[in-house]
Amino acid sequence: MRLPLPLLLVFLAQQCVHASSPAKRSHSTHDYYVLEHNPLAGATLEECTGELGVELVEQVGELRNVWLVRSAKLMSAFSPREVTGSDQVLRRFEDLLALSVHATSLYPRAAARARAHRISSSIRHLSPQIPRQRIKRDGSFLERAPPAVKPGDSQLNSEVIADRLGFVDPLFTKQWHIVNDEYPEHMMNVTGVWEMGFTGEGIITSLVDDGLDYRSRDLAGNFDAENSYDFNDHTDLPTPVLSDDHHGTRCAGQIAAVKNDVCGVGLAYESKVAGVRILSGPITDVDEAAALNYGFQNVSIYSCSWGPPDDGRSMEAPGYIIEKAVVNGILNGRAGKGSIFVFASGNGASSGDQCNFDGYTNSIYSVTVSAVDFKGLHPYYSEPCAANMVVAYSSGSGQHIVTTDVGEDKCSSAHGGTSAAAPNAAGVFALALQARPDLTWRDIQHICVKTAQMINPEDPDWELMASGQKYSYKYGFGQLNAYAYVQAAQDWQLVKPQAWFHPAAMQINNGTLLTENGDMEGGQPIVSGGVTSSFMVTQDMLDTHNFEGLEHLTIRVWISHTKRGDVEVELTSPNGIRSVLAAKRDYDRAASGFRGWRFMTIKHWGENAVGTWTIKVSDQSTEGHSGTFYGWRLMFWGSTIDPAGAQTYTLPLSEYQLPSLVDDDAVIVPTPTSSKSHPKPTSGLPDDHGTAEGEADKPAFPSTSSTATMTPTPDEGWFSDMSNLVSSQKWFFGAIGAVVLFGVGAGVFFWRRRAKHRAYAALSAGDELPMNSVSREGRPRAKELYDAFGEVSDDDADEETRLQPGGQTSEGLGFHSEFLDDDEPSSATVYRDNPEKGHDASPDVRSISPGSGSGDGSWEHASETH
Ligand SMILES: *[C@@H]1O[C@H](CO)[C@@H](O)[C@H](O)[C@H]1NC(C)=O
Ligand SMILES: *[C@@H]1O[C@H](CO)[C@@H](O)[C@H](O)[C@H]1NC(C)=O
Ligand SMILES: *[C@@H]1O[C@H](CO)[C@@H](O)[C@H](O)[C@H]1NC(C)=O
Repeated sequence: MRLPLPLLLVFLAQQCVHASSPAKRSHSTHDYYVLEHNPLAGATLEECTGELGVELVEQVGELRNVWLVRSAKLMSAFSPREVTGSDQVLRRFEDLLALSVHATSLYPRAAARARAHRISSSIRHLSPQIPRQRIKRDGSFLERAPPAVKPGDSQLNSEVIADRLGFVDPLFTKQWHIVNDEYPEHMMNVTGVWEMGFTGEGIITSLVDDGLDYRSRDLAGNFDAENSYDFNDHTDLPTPVLSDDHHGTRCAGQIAAVKNDVCGVGLAYESKVAGVRILSGPITDVDEAAALNYGFQNVSIYSCSWGPPDDGRSMEAPGYIIEKAVVNGILNGRAGKGSIFVFASGNGASSGDQCNFDGYTNSIYSVTVSAVDFKGLHPYYSEPCAANMVVAYSSGSGQHIVTTDVGEDKCSSAHGGTSAAAPNAAGVFALALQARPDLTWRDIQHICVKTAQMINPEDPDWELMASGQKYSYKYGFGQLNAYAYVQAAQDWQLVKPQAWFHPAAMQINNGTLLTENGDMEGGQPIVSGGVTSSFMVTQDMLDTHNFEGLEHLTIRVWISHTKRGDVEVELTSPNGIRSVLAAKRDYDRAASGFRGWRFMTIKHWGENAVGTWTIKVSDQSTEGHSGTFYGWRLMFWGSTIDPAGAQTYTLPLSEYQLPSLVDDDAVIVPTPTSSKSHPKPTSGLPDDHGTAEGEADKPAFPSTSSTATMTPTPDEGWFSDMSNLVSSQKWFFGAIGAVVLFGVGAGVFFWRRRAKHRAYAALSAGDELPMNSVSREGRPRAKELYDAFGEVSDDDADEETRLQPGGQTSEGLGFHSEFLDDDEPSSATVYRDNPEKGHDASPDVRSISPGSGSGDGSWEHASETH
């Protein structure tokens, strides 16, 4: 098969599309969808949109081949809102799929079928975009008078520094996170960096938040209008409009408040800040995806202080399109060095929440920042987890963060929560990037690991890693110290490109996720004492994957349980290092379990991965509650041995499948991706988030399990298959080289697509095709081929799959919905007082696919993650 010339031209033309300002949406008159087009599958975008009866709106942000399309709503006088449910566009797509796969028709209209097949296979993903009403919560503490800042004995210190550096900002001496007169060991330690001449000049940070008051005299001089946009009101400038739209402005002040006579200064006070407003109203996945890539060539850092609710019961992850945008930022942002995504860990610790139940903070692509307070103690709200990288200063033990506020010369002394910790980290990264603009996204993380400083060494939460360093679920690698960070950055040797080793999932007693309804079968009941399973990594496996230097580990699990909050999951490395991935969550009563949910740990950073990795799943043995462990998948991320062999990562669509489809050729369900709006980061933060005393004497996860363990035998059969698979991949590498050499690449590529279609057809025909057979034969090879073609379209274009309507487990998702509030110690009840209207408002969506919807942290969310 060859590429027709016109097709090639279309393809090339698309590479040149530049994102311009997003068009204004009109959700009252139109239904919107995101459509991912695969130009290599034979149909042009125009054919696809024509067939679906939709109109092209624009490219989605910076995502190549991903389009926002719309169709006029069919208004019914009686029930105008019903239209989405009985969706014409999805129906047309389903019809197309049905026509393309039902080879058994009595009337095989071959031409029609071929056409349907060509068009449907050119649509990799299709999902409705439904904005949801944002949940308003009053952050009443915000209106209170700021607590008096207690003058310390040595206030002289900050005054001396202000004099020496010429600061006349009236609140400079109250900015204890910059110079802490009372506890001088607890501050960002940034003044020495300024004295070295680094103030962030030339670096742009985007505050993805609820607006940014560029009219403030403290921000105007450092505001970057060109890279700002308002996705809530679809206007160019991110003007705070709502009465509680002050969060983004306060965060921006922490980073780039100007050195002048207003309020205080930012950590990188000569850097620029852009505002991308998404938190002040309903937003769709496409807009969030565009927001996270907005201006991504010139913007270096995206500071994100939001996430799913911190109620100790939610478990949500970004949907496909959003995760795709994040990967796009990592691969292509900042001229390929990668956007720096900084996320606040969440404020739900007092509700038992953990940042490993949030798919944004447990992403390998984000630097997850937790909070530590004025006295260096752990504030009760700051969430622990094995994905925490560092801590930065924020509210607690009687103090808040002092920064700029909305208004011409207004200041805030009531800022806090983990959402104030994240911008402090972003400010440090801006300083480091001025010193070393060539640092990649992974260098930024490596320097965190290397320079973070241990605090409260007596805290039992610190545990030894294999590297000899200590790690804490509460503090990550420790306190982010600007001076140490920038100094290390100055003569940092760049890390080699990223490598990964993703063995197929381990099935426990043939544990399988049935695609039809998300049920699972097989598995091992979780007995008292827990169930364990092991996976052995050999040096040969790592070499085959050009892998050395372990960094992140992601672990997907398939577990059913009648009370999800009872489940504990921990991973033990070959060197005996234990990572708690999930600890008990009292408020999480979901009965949906974990269906491919992804956990992440950085506690094995730098460890030799060779040897036996063991997962242990246990519960509380609560009367009346039980569960089953079906499978798990360990994925290693690190650096390459040989940089020349580095590949371009492609985001798979199907990682939630069990058994895993190594090729990612899964059938994807078009999940109506909803997008709910994100709660304000500070909403829900209780009044006392700055006053309560912190602690430094409690392990985050009280000794989960030192008890003896009964160990059922893992499915050895699958295990040996795995090894075969690995060696066949090796063989395949060789073959690929040859193929490429002979220039038959394109042929292979299409062969692969055909194979995919075969599998797809089989599945969607509803045969009870065992997933195993889909996942095994030949898939790994296809994967490698794909990677070989990585440059053709780094958006992953082709690879995987598209969605199939029909509802199964899915992936996609859109749920990310609600975001964290920063501080939300507020406990589950607070959330419940504010029911997510979004969830309730979309029964129609749910009827399309069981996978969407509910914000209650049902497992569907898990499947949305990738
Ligand atoms: C803080 O910065 C100063 C330079 O201003 C430096 O001498 C000191 O070592 C730093 N403190 C730590 C703990 O790194
Ligand atoms: C990005 O920076 C370049 C060079 O400084 C400039 O020419 C261009 O206009 C900027 N683009 C945006 C979107 O800021
Ligand atoms: C798993 O499946 C294989 C082949 O389908 C079968 O031989 C084996 O007995 C099964 N194991 C269990 C524990 O059911």
